[in-house]
Amino acid sequence: MGMHFDEKKQTFSIDTANSTYQFQVDRHGFLLHLYYGKKISGNADYLLKYLDRGFSGNPACLINDRTFSMDVLPQELPVWGSGDFRSPAFVVEKEDGTRSVDLKYVTYQIRKGKYSLPGLPAVYVSDEEATEAETLEIVLEDSVLSLEVDLLYGVLPKLDIITRAIQIKNKGADIVYLDKLMPASLDFITGDYDLITFHGRHTMERLMQRVPINHLSQRIGSRRGASSHQFNPMLIAAKPETTDFFGDCYAMEFVYSGGFQAEALKDQFGTTRVQMGLQEEGFHYSVAFGETFTSPEVILSFSRDGFDRLSHNLHDVIRQHICRGAYQYQPRPVLVNSWEGSLCNITRDSLLSLAREGKEIGLDMLVVDDGWFGNRDDDNTSLGDWYANEEKLGGSLAQLITDVNRIGLKFGIWMEPEMISEKSHLYEMHPDWALQIPGRIPIRGRNQLVLDFSRKDVRDYIYDRICDILDSGNIEYLKWDYNRSIYDVYSEGVTHQGRVLYDYMLGLYEVLEKLVNRYPHVLIEGCSGGGGRYDAGMLYYTPQIWTSDNTDPIDRMLIQYGTSFGYPASTMAAHVSKSPNEQTGRVTPIQTRVIAAMYGSFGFELDLSLLTKEEKKAAGEEVKKYHRLERLITDGRYYRLSDPAKDKFCAWSFVSRDESEALVNAVVLKLQSNDELFYVRPKGLKPERVYKEINTGECYDSDLLMSAGLPLPKETGEHRAYQFHFILQQ
Ligand code: DGJ
Repeated sequence: MGMHFDEKKQTFSIDTANSTYQFQVDRHGFLLHLYYGKKISGNADYLLKYLDRGFSGNPACLINDRTFSMDVLPQELPVWGSGDFRSPAFVVEKEDGTRSVDLKYVTYQIRKGKYSLPGLPAVYVSDEEATEAETLEIVLEDSVLSLEVDLLYGVLPKLDIITRAIQIKNKGADIVYLDKLMPASLDFITGDYDLITFHGRHTMERLMQRVPINHLSQRIGSRRGASSHQFNPMLIAAKPETTDFFGDCYAMEFVYSGGFQAEALKDQFGTTRVQMGLQEEGFHYSVAFGETFTSPEVILSFSRDGFDRLSHNLHDVIRQHICRGAYQYQPRPVLVNSWEGSLCNITRDSLLSLAREGKEIGLDMLVVDDGWFGNRDDDNTSLGDWYANEEKLGGSLAQLITDVNRIGLKFGIWMEPEMISEKSHLYEMHPDWALQIPGRIPIRGRNQLVLDFSRKDVRDYIYDRICDILDSGNIEYLKWDYNRSIYDVYSEGVTHQGRVLYDYMLGLYEVLEKLVNRYPHVLIEGCSGGGGRYDAGMLYYTPQIWTSDNTDPIDRMLIQYGTSFGYPASTMAAHVSKSPNEQTGRVTPIQTRVIAAMYGSFGFELDLSLLTKEEKKAAGEEVKKYHRLERLITDGRYYRLSDPAKDKFCAWSFVSRDESEALVNAVVLKLQSNDELFYVRPKGLKPERVYKEINTGECYDSDLLMSAGLPLPKETGEHRAYQFHFILQQ
């Protein structure tokens, strides 16, 4: 396992437990990709064929050799200007508009431990693991542009995880502009692949789509300045026959929260190129002499055992090597959030009564969502005025926190630090702090503007305000919201406006990093109108994210199912809300809402006084149950047991790592009269053993359970849900 350089063949191999990634420095100093897939011991360079192909130009360094063309050969970093007309991963422009790069290999270094990226979130390893993780750094150079390009590869061999990032150093006198940068670009020399992506919209995020990769360029991404509800920065390329538990598949997951893009295309000779990186139109980054630009990284993983295994690799890398802080593994507080119950209409009385009701059913925390500051009586005003509205809160924030703590609940608070309302004192004082283009009326979203986080003075002010709030009492949780897209990109004082969107993200990460260090015991939950910034970048700072503004348990099945491909259950915040549901008007039993919310970090979000006595009693029992099951849900292996887009039920399970326990969940999505029985087939149990379902006391043969399944009860009534808890018998 690990990284090797074969001097004779000039080939780099990155081996993980089950995969090999290989590329070669060819005889002209170009870096050609050879192979990524099932672990191999040989050299894959025999796959390269040199043919004279029409309209495929030959590099300048070759004289009279028409058989060598970058247009045809598989590339490790395809660049614009090399003769490769497929989608480039790297485009550079000079001041005069010329676009051409010619990169040649210079040297390499393999070192212990995983690289980190200055100012950016990235996969990290602990000191003990550092001996297994390795970094490969390849230095390339364009001697005309005086550019050094360093390709960074990281490997976590046991998890089948490889990472890629790029650093660009300008060593010449002239400014260059980076116009496109895809840190991950994979050329599969041969074979057919499907592309699996996760699209959506506000309140309906990460819906899975699977289509063949063909001779049409297929591109997903976000131009919104955030990773977005519309597409998630995560994709899978899979052989057409691949299923959840069989077949080759590859993942790419971007560790970045701003605009991104990913593209897949089968070229004229059947080579498939899949790429992921920074969003093109919003990126025109000037790099002057002596400056270094560092890209975010892309996580890659390969599984030959289908999507379950691929997801497990990604879950492990996110939970163990992206998420950090006190709450990385610690049970999360089961909370009640004030938003869906009260919106901005909170008062001291309503909050304290919510806290008391929460205490009655055994909750751990009250989260005061929007509406507690400035003149925030609705969502049109006051963002930026981070001072408690003492009239509304019936006293100081400190007093409210103390009173909630006295009731026996922890205290959490909502903020939207990157935003500014035009109706705010902050805007009156600093209109230039909002991103807007001089001479143009800015585009509003939710009637608010975005603060210019690329500016240090803005960041420092907001950081101080957040600290002031967090220091005002015993605040143990912060919900970090972000409720619009970025439209108008202009920052005062920046050397070039094409830098702003990227520098904004670096600014955001800087503030979050400072907060994480200063308040290591505060749990920060990420949020962007629900899951509009659900990405591995945010998870570096916020170990959980509000999965969606949609709390309907039936819709949540599709949302959480899609999310599960790339992100572990511990990152998904899911709450029980009222019925009929606020977003869909759908009526569902409390049991169904509870089971749907036990998909991840569990909580409640409704006026608890509306629950009947019986419902409260049931809710209290469920909270106790969640506390018992929390470890199994967050540390267990997660399995998808049905496809909610096709099947009439959604089923999933959590199996403890030692396979001694399994929690199988099922929600009925569609009910028809006199229907067939729905059989749920658990996965991941120990074969040839007996498991007891602890609620009924029934014992089952594990192989029979996994092959024939367990029938769901035949009941009438819309959207019933069931939970089965299996324990391995000795
Ligand atoms: C959007 C979030 O997703 C909601 O949960 C809530 O916090 C509102 N913003 C508050 O404005």
